[in-house]
Amino acid sequence: MSDAKRRVAEAAADLVEPGMRLGLGSGSTATFFVEALGRRVAGGLTLPPCACTSRATEEAARRAGIAIVDMMGPDAPATLDLAVDGADEADPTLRLIKGGGASLLREKIVEALAARFVVIIDESKVVDTLGAFPLPVEITPFGWASTAHLIRQRLGVEPKLRQVRGETLKTDNGNFIVDCAFGRIADAEAVAAALGAIPGVVEHGLFIGMASEALVSDGKNVRRLTPV
Ligand code: A5P
Repeated sequence: MSDAKRRVAEAAADLVEPGMRLGLGSGSTATFFVEALGRRVAGGLTLPPCACTSRATEEAARRAGIAIVDMMGPDAPATLDLAVDGADEADPTLRLIKGGGASLLREKIVEALAARFVVIIDESKVVDTLGAFPLPVEITPFGWASTAHLIRQRLGVEPKLRQVRGETLKTDNGNFIVDCAFGRIADAEAVAAALGAIPGVVEHGLFIGMASEALVSDGKNVRRLTPV
């Protein structure tokens, strides 16, 4: 799979033009993109500071010699020209599940600013119906079990608090993640609306109506998918 990830990352890096205001995604595929972009910057491409979607991506960008914008400060951008990120699943209308790497909140904030959002994925991520990948939902630590109870009650799914090496995972924003194994999400818009109506839910990993196109690779070729 890493050949496929590298190929789509390099194809996406070729889309970047001098002066573009960019959003940099998170995860292994997005990191390949950051590295490919860094090589272009080292070769003379000039860019304004880029918006990063996680602390890990900030570090990858710094390592690659890419300037980054302070998203905590008053100069965070109102718009971006292009955002590039991976995904955990994409359906034919390019509705996405994201958040496998726990960065979904910052990803959604940054990618919502982009005039063009290009998803970079390997073929295994393309599905007919979303939901085989458990949907990540970012929730506040305060009342997390109560919030999980409401998710269970209203959506009929068992939320699983994400643990890493025996510890509860904390996102870059200090929140928790619950993974919701729907199996199949027949109505993604309804699930998104129901989750959005639960007070302790900060954000969920359904990205609907956001992706402009996807670059998909099987490790040899790269094909371009647009929403049907
Ligand atoms: C990070 O939170 C995610 O949304 C990633 O974009 C997603 O998990 C894809 O990651 P990989 O590129 O590592 O498969």
